[in-house]
Amino acid sequence: MRILVTGGLGFIGSQYIRLLLDEHPELEVVNLDAQTYAGNPENLAGYDTRATYRFARVDIRDRVQVRELVLEARPDRVVHFAAESHVDRSIEGPLLFAETNVMGTLNLLEASRELWPSVEDFRFLHVSTDEVYGSLGETGAFKETTPYDPSSPYSASKASSDHFVRAWHRTYGLPTLVTNCSNNYGPFQFPEKLIPLIVNNALNYRELPVYGDGRNIRDWLYVEDHARAIHEVLTRASVGETYNIGGDAERENIVVVETICDLLDELCGQSAGQPRRRELVRFVKDRPGHDRRYAMDTSKIRAELDWRPRFSFESGLRATIEWMLEHQEWLSNVLDGSYQEYYSRMYEER
Ligand code: NAD
Ligand code: TYD
Repeated sequence: MRILVTGGLGFIGSQYIRLLLDEHPELEVVNLDAQTYAGNPENLAGYDTRATYRFARVDIRDRVQVRELVLEARPDRVVHFAAESHVDRSIEGPLLFAETNVMGTLNLLEASRELWPSVEDFRFLHVSTDEVYGSLGETGAFKETTPYDPSSPYSASKASSDHFVRAWHRTYGLPTLVTNCSNNYGPFQFPEKLIPLIVNNALNYRELPVYGDGRNIRDWLYVEDHARAIHEVLTRASVGETYNIGGDAERENIVVVETICDLLDELCGQSAGQPRRRELVRFVKDRPGHDRRYAMDTSKIRAELDWRPRFSFESGLRATIEWMLEHQEWLSNVLDGSYQEYYSRMYEER
């Protein structure tokens, strides 16, 4: 069986490809990725030479190239991760999010529609987010039936792509699946997202920017658990289904930040003359349209596919920080000039 993974040089896609190559050596993997700022070949170091792996540098916004690659590779499965993924960048430049996340997904759907009648047992799995459901109050959790109510350009683009995927199933019969997952964290995450950004800053005794009052809540899932959930859905779910995936690990942002500080103080000790890392917290201007709380009801995937997370938030966070401490070269390579420029633009005047 051949699996076409889009966005396989990114944070979650590369973790999924590692899982496939480690645990399913009988599968062939084709990785379609445009290698944007978030697509890093080092995320697959040591894996990209495997005989069952092949890379194709293709931009999903390019309909002609997408069609050519899909028809030539003839995958049995498409697992679609490729996207612009950061909310703050979507606020700065929303059109790229529509082009990549909406039109790019449509290009893949159209190429798949042409291919699938000639492939036995074809599936198109669309990887999406809990952010499509909008913001929760103090109680409750998102179910697969919760109405969509996205707040940011990022979540609106993902919501739109989810709708198109379901429409291609209902209208054309394309065998699709959709997963909506909560916030991921773990090795290889680009340090624009909360957890790796805070670890990197705290390691270097830089200030720790916390938006608003720091009481926004996210439900955190270790990336390997997400990758395993996706593979369960891909191989076992019925066509047309949607599954919510989450870690049952709701935390306020300020608690996440303070936990990172304490773990780093413990693992690295404190440098002479430096404060405790918690003292580096700075509350900064809130993100516009900032969703207050996300929480996932994962009873469907637990009951139907017997999936559950293997990592608690505490064990996953410790593993992530230890990985970052052991992979300083990976980190310094991603903290290049364009990252510094992004960081100043986003945080200097905040
Ligand atoms: P990421 O930003 O780390 O990686 C995105 C990947 O897509 C990169 O390799 C990039 O090069 C590639 N890409 C971007 N634009 C492309 C284009 N035009 N053509 C081809 N490739 C392109 O993202 P991530 O955090 O790994 O997220 C992967 C997917 O999972 C996304 O669809 C995202 O919406 C979804 N998701 C992410 C989270 C999370 O917490 N990170 C949670 C739920 C769902
Ligand atoms: P983020 O990692 O950007 O994920 P998302 O916006 O997709 O949930 O942010 C997670 C939470 O952390 C979110 O409530 C915004 C907040 N946040 C900060 O407080 N400071 C930061 O520097 C960043 C990047 C995020």
